[in-house]
Amino acid sequence: MPPVITDIEDLHRLYRRRVPRMFYDYCQSGSWTEQTYRENETDFDLIRLRQRVAVDMEGRSVRSKMIGREVAMPVALAPVGLTGMQHADGEILAAKAAEAMGVPFTLSTMSICSIEDVARNTTAPFWFQLYVMRDEDFIDRLIERAQAAGCDALVITLDLQIMGQRHKDLKNGLSAPPKLTPTSIANMMTKVQWGLGMAQTKRRFFGNIIGHAKGVEDASSLSSWTAEQFDPRLDWDKIRRLKEKWGGKVILKGILDAEDARMALAVGADAIVVSNHGGRQLDGALSSIRMLSEIVDAVGDQIEVHMDGGIRSGQDVLKAIAMGAKGTYIGRAFIYGLGAMGQAGVTRALEVIRRELDVTMALCGEKDIHNVGRHNLLVPRGFS
Ligand code: FNR
Repeated sequence: MPPVITDIEDLHRLYRRRVPRMFYDYCQSGSWTEQTYRENETDFDLIRLRQRVAVDMEGRSVRSKMIGREVAMPVALAPVGLTGMQHADGEILAAKAAEAMGVPFTLSTMSICSIEDVARNTTAPFWFQLYVMRDEDFIDRLIERAQAAGCDALVITLDLQIMGQRHKDLKNGLSAPPKLTPTSIANMMTKVQWGLGMAQTKRRFFGNIIGHAKGVEDASSLSSWTAEQFDPRLDWDKIRRLKEKWGGKVILKGILDAEDARMALAVGADAIVVSNHGGRQLDGALSSIRMLSEIVDAVGDQIEVHMDGGIRSGQDVLKAIAMGAKGTYIGRAFIYGLGAMGQAGVTRALEVIRRELDVTMALCGEKDIHNVGRHNLLVPRGFS
């Protein structure tokens, strides 16, 4: 009997059973005390919805646009490193599920499947997420590869030039492919389906960076490699240069402050993502949903504001849109689906969220996602 999946938590439980501990922990953790990581989720619960009745609900639509692109709902798949370690060929499978659903897929610099692997296996353009590294030639080559693959937006992540510490990853000795120790071997042996998939694919290393950045082949752990390669001197001039080199739509990800949002506007970004990297960087920062309206108020009429962090349901998406976001991203919610059931699991995660979004919108008395707004919410103090 296939498992009955009715919500994202069902996928989470299945994911936990099926994927080796090291990669489950990598996904599931936040930095240091994990306060920001927890509050990304729990702050959504503090915002309540206003029920409305006797409104004609026929012909509803959650279709929208993100940076000019038609989307089946205002939800994109966030860039998630090592997705191909959660399930063999994970980035390709997630991109296919996103394409079938009509939502954007964002490929991380730190993906296992390369830009070319994903482009070869999909037809819809995807978005490429860039981590800025010290080696400018290498960065330029990555941008050229994304251009050649037809990517229609460059997502530059600004909040990970120095990596926040995640205790579990350090303790597990996270690496890709995993280092073989008695514990990791014993754990992987119990994850039969995962292991069979991995045995059948050649894609087990960082596809975008292998053979290019110095020292990558020897990287024994993700954090020491990141510390060596990622450019701590990233500033707004460098962002301008990258934007020019790219020449297309640019989304700046990791904005959590109104002043930074104004700077993003000044460099000509097409959109910003209000994000704290899923609570994996500055522990103690406020949740994304709590910071959203301050940033929307500062720049929302001049630039598209997106958000991510803590979205586990269509209700969460509705709340973010009502608070002024024009688009949202899911990270862990689609990884749960991928690790649980491969492409079908990502499809299921998207279906669950779309259905919840549609029904919640209807019960709030709205027929069109574009009409959803603050009037649909009861927002406690501290959110605006
Ligand atoms: C991430 N995130 C991330 N962001 C990014 O720009 N590049 C990356 O490679 C990664 N890698 C990554 C790995 C894992 C395991 C997670 C959970 C997250 C952050 C991601 O894009 C997004 O901001 C968060 O995942 C959003 O929060 P939720 O939806 O996971 O709560």
